[in-house]
Amino acid sequence: MERKFPSTRLRRLRTSKKLIDLVSENTITSNDLIQPLFIKENLSGTESIKSMPDILRYGKDEVNKEIKNIINCGINTIALFPIIKPELKNSSGSEAINKDNFICSMIKQIKDEYPEIIIIADVALDPYTDHGHDGVLNQDYVDNDATVNILVEQSLLLAASGADIIAPSDMMDGRIAKIRQSLESEGFINTILLSYAAKFNSHFYGPFREAIGSSSKLQGSSKSSYQMNTANYNEAYNEVALDINEGADIVMVKPALAYLDVISMIKKEFKVPTFAYQVSGEYSMIQNAIKEGWLDKNVMLESLLSIKRAGADAILSYAAKDISLEIKNL
Ligand code: PBG
Repeated sequence: MERKFPSTRLRRLRTSKKLIDLVSENTITSNDLIQPLFIKENLSGTESIKSMPDILRYGKDEVNKEIKNIINCGINTIALFPIIKPELKNSSGSEAINKDNFICSMIKQIKDEYPEIIIIADVALDPYTDHGHDGVLNQDYVDNDATVNILVEQSLLLAASGADIIAPSDMMDGRIAKIRQSLESEGFINTILLSYAAKFNSHFYGPFREAIGSSSKLQGSSKSSYQMNTANYNEAYNEVALDINEGADIVMVKPALAYLDVISMIKKEFKVPTFAYQVSGEYSMIQNAIKEGWLDKNVMLESLLSIKRAGADAILSYAAKDISLEIKNL
């Protein structure tokens, strides 16, 4: 199509805020935002996280208050991440499959008071292992099939406790199929599987690992034998294709900002619900710069909007609550 000045003046549609809004191609609403939440066993009150400005760990006694807060901000969905008592961690992450463990009791506690909130429960062993890996080790190698068997049990417990969405973030091969099969045969036919399908071996997870206390456990050991090479694009396609065929309802790309090309490709190619995770490092960079006065606070919304524009249907963001309030008042 030929465009010629002055019959085409693109600035015509930028002459007022109302006109700009009228022709806006993308928006973010509270429905698109998911709030991740750190909950800590044996903590009373809250605790700050050094590398994540304004983000807290919540004790059992504070969690429901915070859920109410989140709901009041207009957010309908949360993703829970537990920090368990250090003495419960071991090499097999066995606390993950204790049906009376902290996360199961917290899901029940939240659902008792707020049955309508959608709970996403993470499936992986890193909050539970004393080496900080997402699975069990055979020598130094994370054993795929042995890990999958444990993840299946972990998923069934989370579903039985009332989690609406089970989110395997471990990147083991074949886990979606096995988890789906077990959920079906145990009668959890409406439990949703959100696969962290394209999860990269990113350094943007640093603050999260501090938040859940796994970084000191990892001692510099890498997750490169299961998380994806950050240079890869076609591999993300293959990961997503496998997970959809195995029974994932929703797929996720993680991190978000450095992988917008991958989000865009996946949404275009597969046309399934596609989520993105604005991870801890992304959040902390932006939030810290805002707090220091180096960047205007609108950069957070701008960053989330770019993720939406790339094709994400929903975004996990530590800023979800604040942004939801902000866009309500725009
Ligand atoms: C681990 C898990 C990680 C995150 C979510 N689940 C970290 C990792 O893979 O080491 C990262 C989230 C974030 O950085 O905000 N199963």
